[in-house]
Amino acid sequence: MSTATEARSEAAVGRLHDASLGESLKFVATGLLPSLARGLFKPRRGAMKRLTALDMDTRAIRALSEIRDKHGGDGARLLGGRLAVLWGAGAIREVLDNSATDYASDGGAKAKGMCHFQPDALTVSRGADWRDRRAFNESVLAYSERVHPLADRFLSVVEDEVARLRIGPVLEWDAFEGLWDHITLRVVFGDHARGDQELTGLLAKLMNQGQRLVGVGEPTDDYYELYGKIERYLADPQEGSLLSLVREAPQSDRTRVAHQVPHWMFAMRDTLGANAYRALAVIAADPSLCARVREELPEGGELLEGVLHEAMRLWPTTPLLARETTRDLELGGARLAEGTQVMMLNVFNHRRPEGIDDADRVVPERWMGDNPTEYRFNHLSNGTQDCPGGPLVLLLGRAVLARMLSEWSFKLVEPSLPAGGDQPTMLDFFAIRFEVEPR
Ligand code: HEM
Repeated sequence: MSTATEARSEAAVGRLHDASLGESLKFVATGLLPSLARGLFKPRRGAMKRLTALDMDTRAIRALSEIRDKHGGDGARLLGGRLAVLWGAGAIREVLDNSATDYASDGGAKAKGMCHFQPDALTVSRGADWRDRRAFNESVLAYSERVHPLADRFLSVVEDEVARLRIGPVLEWDAFEGLWDHITLRVVFGDHARGDQELTGLLAKLMNQGQRLVGVGEPTDDYYELYGKIERYLADPQEGSLLSLVREAPQSDRTRVAHQVPHWMFAMRDTLGANAYRALAVIAADPSLCARVREELPEGGELLEGVLHEAMRLWPTTPLLARETTRDLELGGARLAEGTQVMMLNVFNHRRPEGIDDADRVVPERWMGDNPTEYRFNHLSNGTQDCPGGPLVLLLGRAVLARMLSEWSFKLVEPSLPAGGDQPTMLDFFAIRFEVEPR
């Protein structure tokens, strides 16, 4: 990097000040611990209900707003420098653009829990391993392509699964989750895997154990069974599935191909399912938005995509991004020793970004047309370790919503969301219920 560029990027990072012990503890209690309680990578139904009743994210926003108002700059060092929390676009950009090298995502509680079921996954890799696995993931997921090479087949899977869906007079989460279970198995493994709920069940069981962080250690029988099943599918990949693209993808001994697959499964089935369900609630709650979205049917267009982005932004399924410094570093004039935990609290940064209007409202236009990357909005993350499944998320999410809106009319029964107004800080997707009528 030239000196001029260095000076420019340093100037763009605001200062990091030291927060007091009281402020640090308040952040840990309202921002950090609830993220652990909610479920690090698979939200727990009971915990979501309790945390939503307590409106925990509002408490985190309040605590962090106080810290930011007092200290200013781009973030703060907490607990004597063991932790840093960032809210400024400059500092967040610096960290995310140097992710997997200077700032690694393989430390901390999330990585420890994930190692229980996917110890060699991309998201918990760094350095040369990360580069190798990233190239493999980007190739299969067609991260850099405008349209995934298997898009037509994936869209016909969505069409078939929505046609098979039996819903009405109500729609609840379990039915929607079942829809995504089938779509995921067919997209990742092929049509012959549609009924393999044992596979998704095994992964769900291991993920639940992983995020309880107890008994996490030696691989269990379930672990070997999960990878045995994935290896069998990999040995005989079905045409039109993601696995059929594995052979052509760049790979080496470092890649650990089978270990990349569970992330695709839960990110599509659980994460995308939850986000699409919330987007449906947003549309059903706002008749004028719904009418505009319907104008884009049967395919669904830019507006529908913008609504999906907004649902993801307003209620980020990754409430917090965590990184660990891999060496002694300087950020915003503050020294971060090797091993410092660097936190970006999405539930705060997405709702209180300084200088951005209407952050509590649904504004799909934020994502329409050519807008510069906003490093504080990280529902799909940004920088080197951003979500390589992003294009697939938009393709499948948009397709499911468009098909469902073509088939049925939805009335949001609970919880209530204000049409066009400030959205509640938390939206428990398990609790969303619709009344449904065929169109
Ligand atoms: C709405 C659905 C999704 C959301 C909101 C989402 C969000 C994210 C976020 C925030 C990250 C960064 C996490 C971190 O650094 O701590 C990430 C990484 C990742 N996502 Fe997604 N994701 C979604 C769906 C998918 C899908 C469908 C796939 C694959 C089929 C996928 C594959 C990945 C992978 C492999 C990474 C790790 C990237 C790396 O470490 O370089 N995601 N995703």
